[in-house]
Amino acid sequence: MKNEKVPASEISRQLEIADQVRQILPAGRKYHIVTLGCQMNVRDSESLAGLFERMGFLKAETREDADLILYNTCCVRENAENKALGNVIWLKELKKIKPHLIIAVGGCMMQEEGMAETLIKQYPFIDFIMGTHNSYKVPEFVHTVLTEERQTFEVLNIDGMVVEGLPAVRNSNFSAFVNIMYGCNNFCSYCIVPYVRGRERSRTEEDILDEIKRLQDAGVKEITLLGQNVNSYMGGGANFANLLCKIDQMGIERIRFMTSHPKDLSDELIHAYASLKHLMPHLHLPVQAGNDEILSRMNRIYSREKYLDLVSRLRKARPDIGLTTDIIVGFPGETNAQFEDTLSLAKLVRYDAAYTFIYSPRAGTKAAKLPDPVTIEEKTERIQRLIDLQQSITSEILLEQVGKTLPVLVDSVSARDESKIGGKTPRAHMVNFDGPKDLIGRTVNVLITSAGKNTLRGEIVK
Ligand code: 5AD
Ligand code: SF4
Repeated sequence: MKNEKVPASEISRQLEIADQVRQILPAGRKYHIVTLGCQMNVRDSESLAGLFERMGFLKAETREDADLILYNTCCVRENAENKALGNVIWLKELKKIKPHLIIAVGGCMMQEEGMAETLIKQYPFIDFIMGTHNSYKVPEFVHTVLTEERQTFEVLNIDGMVVEGLPAVRNSNFSAFVNIMYGCNNFCSYCIVPYVRGRERSRTEEDILDEIKRLQDAGVKEITLLGQNVNSYMGGGANFANLLCKIDQMGIERIRFMTSHPKDLSDELIHAYASLKHLMPHLHLPVQAGNDEILSRMNRIYSREKYLDLVSRLRKARPDIGLTTDIIVGFPGETNAQFEDTLSLAKLVRYDAAYTFIYSPRAGTKAAKLPDPVTIEEKTERIQRLIDLQQSITSEILLEQVGKTLPVLVDSVSARDESKIGGKTPRAHMVNFDGPKDLIGRTVNVLITSAGKNTLRGEIVK
């Protein structure tokens, strides 16, 4: 695995350019980032926000109030792309009213072959486009737009390197995302991620632990480690389970991570669920399908039996563990009987929640070339059956929580009524209850009193 870093001198150069932008930027200019897609994009947007603030931009809550709007795009399914395109086209109207508005597009969709070139030609109102591998160069792109008043775009068709040392504006001061690795080597046949995010590369253990220490010193209580496939983390000889042990010893109150590939879920990691004090009893373990033939055509490298065995070993190690998953319905050629296997697997596992998607062909992937005789109506009917089944399982599991007293890390206040706050249990169930908003960022014990469709209700116990 290549774990090359972008040279520190290049990061310093970008920070210097950011300072130059600060000198020429008219006062009061604001930025707004629209983030589509997964947690990796959310984390990338935090670094982009850090760079914009270094350049002197202030944060705008809405697009209408902004002088620079950046779309951080996703391309994992077609509807994510359509959403991004529709939004960007709408910005053209905004630019008519505010001619100095800078419009920028970045993220995974820009890494697709030919996409950035097409967009920049087709939409002259876009000021700059960048990819995922070079977004640390945003100060340079903004500088070019301001000083040369021309469109600019750069997308690197490389595997990408690890970027360290960027400033960040974090979305929360008590719960933080920490990247541990980037990219994916798995090439599941439906997935575009390996093409747009490049091959796997890990941050060093030292860089990760330093970042976590700084977050901990700043009062962060919950860390979510991020990577497309965290189980294949390899930072200078240390594997993922070793890394978790070290973070556990630091005494961070809550440790979570995502996403895990079942084929790489090691015995050591299962053991970590039994032995680590701060590792939360929740695991997101995408299954994608419950039928062996489909799993094999998806290139997932595990069987239904192997997956079910992992689940039973995880539950043996940590009986209160809550599992969540991703499922694709209507993979090319999926028969009704094969889909029934997915339903029966969901019944056997009893997930806390499942994120379900209708298969979306992605250009350049292997599955996009497969014949697909199943109609969209049939796929829609299948996904509805799966959603209904999962809803009934989720409701049952939530009901099982009633009567328990659980520690909840308060993370939100109701927009409608400031006396109502909410947060997550260790198993990641959302609970709402009455309490003062100054409890945000604190952990309180909550007696679960009732269960709704997807959330719990409770009351604080003193
Ligand atoms: N079509 C539908 N869903 C997809 N996913 C990834 N690629 C596709 C696709 N082509 C889903 C998988 C993955 C989640 C992040 O998105 O379930 O786990
Ligand atoms: Fe895509 Fe599979 Fe990699 Fe996940 S593991 S990002 S689904 S290729």
